Amino acid sequence: MLRRAGSSLRHFLVERKSSAGYSLCSREAKMSRPVQARRLEGIDKNVWVEFVKLAATYSKVNLGQGFPDFPAPDFLQEALKRALSEGTHMLHQYTRAFGHPPLVKVLAQIFEKVLGRELDPMTNVMVTVGAYQALFCCFQAFVDEGDEVVVIEPFFDCYEPMVKMAGGTSVFVPLRPKAPKDGKLMSSADWQLDPAELASKFSERTKAIVLNSPNNPLGKVFSRGELELIAELCVKHDVLCISDEVYEWLVYDGKEHIRIASLPGMWDRTVTIGSAGKTFSATGWKVGWTVGPDRLLQHVRTVHQNSVYHCATIAQEAVAQGFQRELTLYGKPESYFVQLPKTLQQKRDLLIQILVAVGIKPIVPEGTYFLVADISEFKSDVPEVPNSDEPYDCRFTKWMMKNKGLAAIPLSTFYSEAHKNNYPNFIRFCFAKEEATLKAANDILQKWKKEKTSS
Ligand SMILES: Cc1ncc(COP(=O)(O)O)c(C=O)c1O
Repeated sequence: MLRRAGSSLRHFLVERKSSAGYSLCSREAKMSRPVQARRLEGIDKNVWVEFVKLAATYSKVNLGQGFPDFPAPDFLQEALKRALSEGTHMLHQYTRAFGHPPLVKVLAQIFEKVLGRELDPMTNVMVTVGAYQALFCCFQAFVDEGDEVVVIEPFFDCYEPMVKMAGGTSVFVPLRPKAPKDGKLMSSADWQLDPAELASKFSERTKAIVLNSPNNPLGKVFSRGELELIAELCVKHDVLCISDEVYEWLVYDGKEHIRIASLPGMWDRTVTIGSAGKTFSATGWKVGWTVGPDRLLQHVRTVHQNSVYHCATIAQEAVAQGFQRELTLYGKPESYFVQLPKTLQQKRDLLIQILVAVGIKPIVPEGTYFLVADISEFKSDVPEVPNSDEPYDCRFTKWMMKNKGLAAIPLSTFYSEAHKNNYPNFIRFCFAKEEATLKAANDILQKWKKEKTSS
């Protein structure tokens, strides 16, 4: 068998020789053909792989990657236990490819409420392995060679390589900071799009825009006016909107999260993406979804059925029960969608207090569980290296992890190569953490500050 495989490989290589000019006699020549597909060029590095490893090795307090260190709510854990109990053995088997029926049904009911339109659970909702897979399916489904995709900077880092893998090109447009008034702390709302600059990025090559509101890393919640501006351009240029709304329930200070799919002309051109990981503080479950018109979702389903095909039934069942509870409690104070942002706002405020006390200036986020802050006050401990390839915030964050045991993520991670050095003094902290974790971060920063002032 093996011999035959060997001879067919030789036959294959001989065939290649004539077209590619390879010499088959030398071992080196055989190895010279790249094994990886062209679409992988330049995307082999992934910040999460690198920083998660560093954090695991060095950090005592991890405010880096975005996940809660507090438990998922009891009702969700109970739902999982029920799904594992007797009489439910079929939940260990495959379910419907495009989403476990109880989950797509309840998602349709929830989204009917928030979008104000009727939805068909079978054609307007599809379940994915986390929002990450939903994003991947969308880019594969809609982006072709030569297409451009408008990406608002700073952005969740996977958008750019996913666009590239689909054969498209990302066209970046920045959120630009405005100085806050009267010595106030900067807010994520101070980071805004320039309407003329945004409009200039749309052309006949533009296939889609990626919107992420509330935005990771800044925590910006796009206002109605900003969303209307984006919507107008999408309609004018017949552009799709891939709307990543994984932090949809995490908004603070009475802010409203507006779904772009609910704006005039947008339902037909928008796929809205969500995540049970972020919604129910269970990021390891990797259950996500897409909601949109059948004319778009039919192509997302094509990618899904030919790649992942199916998501874990038992996790879908438990998430369905979690949503069922939320549907019953919708808008009531006991709802997790009301409770979680309340708790997280307190944690946000605690982290702001901790940072301000040592001279690190936070940008107050209106949503998400991230906070970007200016670490200029601590720069003198980590000298700049002139002409270094590594952005300063990366060096600073790695130094902080190794020397102080505190993990965070450099802001440059969320910028394209050309703009990585635009904000060298900013890093991102995650505040979805137990109070004890935030206090441990406080201890590290206080001690560091004391050492600095006494040296
Ligand atoms: C903006 C954004 N989109 C998508 C994801 C991926 O979500 P999931 O864990 O459900 O795949 C994340 C995770 O951090 C995120 O921050």
